[in-house]
Amino acid sequence: MLSQKHLLGLENLQKSDIELLLETAESFKEIIDRDVKKVPTLRGKAIVNLFYEPSTRTRTSFELAGKYLSADTINFTSSASSVRKGETLKDTAKTIEMMGVDAVIIRHSSSGAASYLSRHVTASVINAGDGTHEHPTQALLDMFTVKEKKGTLSGLKVAIFGDILHSRVARSNIFGFTKMGSEVFVAGPSTLMPPDIEQMGAKPVEIIEEAVRDADVVIALRIQLERQQKGLFPTIREYSKFFGLNKDKLALAKSDAILLHPGPVNRGIELTSEVIDGSQSVINQQVKNGVAVRMAVLYHLIGGSRE
Ligand code: CP
Repeated sequence: MLSQKHLLGLENLQKSDIELLLETAESFKEIIDRDVKKVPTLRGKAIVNLFYEPSTRTRTSFELAGKYLSADTINFTSSASSVRKGETLKDTAKTIEMMGVDAVIIRHSSSGAASYLSRHVTASVINAGDGTHEHPTQALLDMFTVKEKKGTLSGLKVAIFGDILHSRVARSNIFGFTKMGSEVFVAGPSTLMPPDIEQMGAKPVEIIEEAVRDADVVIALRIQLERQQKGLFPTIREYSKFFGLNKDKLALAKSDAILLHPGPVNRGIELTSEVIDGSQSVINQQVKNGVAVRMAVLYHLIGGSRE
């Protein structure tokens, strides 16, 4: 079992919990390649995907993870629910919980929504992305992918670049990778750099080339245009020129460096198609590993009895 009942973020998750989740995901991964993708581990458990923001990867992989473990999974989309009639988050979650749900997976535009919910329901709450705060399962699947390719997370140089300020993925990855012994360098326009970046444990550098040079792992971020006020950088074209990654910039990293992106990618903005589809890209492996990691999270949160 994990030391916590909920998975709200990696900032307060113990290193031993991260290790346990990554080890469990490794053992679950082979189920995804079976002809019959079904084990009875979570038979009788019910899980709801409570998504207030769009998602392809996270929602689908949580649904599949639950199904592969034989749980009953329900998808809730706020735009087609009584939220449209004014129902609050707390009332919606309580209503769903009264139907016998064991885990609530929430994505919401407000930072802190998952934590708020965990104080109002008895089911386990899993944060699937809350505002600009955290996206813990994305960071776990990123770490899983890196560990699979590099054999370790300790002693690696990890470069994260782009819209750090609005990225919950960046925050969770900074907390996760530094906890596991990697050194994290971040680069992005100064207007998209959080003022407390060093307190988070990352090393800010001014240009993307400096972050990427000699890196073992390069993580690109999507520009979160939906969370930005106007005027944080002059134009998309200029952003792409200075903070986009192409083949020449990626060549500054170690020759065996790997390239990650949480998706969805803005092709031609943060990454050129050449590097997205190139031999160093592990973007598709990240998606597959996301199912295994989410199986591990569900198993450890609702798979056993808790005192
Ligand atoms: N990485 C990620 O969270 O993707 P989705 O928005 O498609 O879930």
